[in-house]
Amino acid sequence: MSQKIRVMIVFGTRPEAIKMAPVLAELHRQKTLFTPLTVVTGQHREMLAQCLDRFKITPDHDLAVMTAGQTLEDVNCAILKGLPEVFDRLHPDVVLVQGDTTTSFVTALSAFYHHIPIGHVEAGLRTRDKWNPFPEEMNRHLTGVLADLHFAPTEQAQKNLLAEGIPKDRIYLTGNTIVDALHEIMAAQTNGASPTLSGRPTARTLAAGGLKPPSASRLWLLTLHRRESFGKPMEGIFKAMRQLMTRYPDVELIFPVHPNPKVQETAHRILANRKRIHLLKPVDYFDFVGLQSASELILTDSGGVQEEAPSLGKPVLVLRETTERPEGVTAGVARLVGTNPKRIIEEVVRLMDNPQLYRKMVRAVNPYGDGQAAKRIVKILVAVFKKK
Ligand code: UD1
Ligand code: UDP
Repeated sequence: MSQKIRVMIVFGTRPEAIKMAPVLAELHRQKTLFTPLTVVTGQHREMLAQCLDRFKITPDHDLAVMTAGQTLEDVNCAILKGLPEVFDRLHPDVVLVQGDTTTSFVTALSAFYHHIPIGHVEAGLRTRDKWNPFPEEMNRHLTGVLADLHFAPTEQAQKNLLAEGIPKDRIYLTGNTIVDALHEIMAAQTNGASPTLSGRPTARTLAAGGLKPPSASRLWLLTLHRRESFGKPMEGIFKAMRQLMTRYPDVELIFPVHPNPKVQETAHRILANRKRIHLLKPVDYFDFVGLQSASELILTDSGGVQEEAPSLGKPVLVLRETTERPEGVTAGVARLVGTNPKRIIEEVVRLMDNPQLYRKMVRAVNPYGDGQAAKRIVKILVAVFKKK
């Protein structure tokens, strides 16, 4: 290979930033082979900025598309309009996208229009339900239809892609880069740079959770943001949280509220000014991992959190009707409990009032990767471009 490979990574939201950071770092480590190009769509603003700061990423270009209360069409159109100039100026040999966001799908579409090969990181996750998660199931599927290289995080994801007729030699089993990101935090902890993973809350973790030491020994962590839960399901989940907090008077519920105005409104209407319920701004990634590590229980509809909690040995109740991440459920560390308030309360009580059951769920397992995913992805890029 005489010329360096120009790899453009395009991302726009918090989870994409967290999961692409290890790939970008690995490309930078191999600077003799690659020219890494970082483009952010800015689908998220503050939450993206928080991650860029944390991982010390300076984008080559920012489309800055976010508007308050944006529609899916707003995001689509702004990205489709903005990317061509960036492609023309930076001449990528390959474009990498991650996951199931509108940024991933529309970037893949735009790269296709420009005849640029596409690599899809975290390919092949499926619920097979068009409406759950909405619109992410279709975003991921359509990105897969357009992609040339499919980096599947798990065997199940690989099988899903094979079942859809994607040629075997275009699918690579890599693990999920989120485990790489977690490993980086653990290494930082060893170096004294991140005080977060002891399993007990440090003063810093408590402060990040809006608490003052000394504090209750029991922390629960909640996140919720999915579009299919807006309205009644989300209201029901929050009301269930209120009831649970009455039942468990020694628990502090930490809830970094997603900035989406629909989530903000519902969360503040139902949960604000309640004792032991802490509504926070999005928390810095390292501190959020610290909060997960310090929590007795995690309640979430997040994809990334479902993947992190098993690595940290934390039981997760998944507040969704379906999941494209069945591995945690199969491993016994996650339970899909849906959005019905009665069922959620029953599931929490069942787990909290049954120490044997709880102990069974508290196991550190890693169904999503081994921390080497980014290295594999970059190695595959070298091999693919050598052939060219
Ligand atoms: C998006 C992704 C979803 C992912 C989630 C991660 C799509 C369709 N959805 O959903 O897959 O799980 O990100 O969080 O791509 N906002 C801010 N500041 C921010 C970010 C968001 O104010 O930093 C507010 C804005 O009002 C924005 C709204 O949240 O309009 C919705 O953001 P958007 O990216 O459209 O949807 P998410 O629900 O964040
Ligand atoms: N996260 C974070 N701060 C928070 C909440 C979540 O850093 O206040 C991280 C979390 O650790 C995970 C990622 O954000 O890595 C998940 O993002 P999100 O839930 O927004 O999106 P999803 O994974 O559902 O697409």
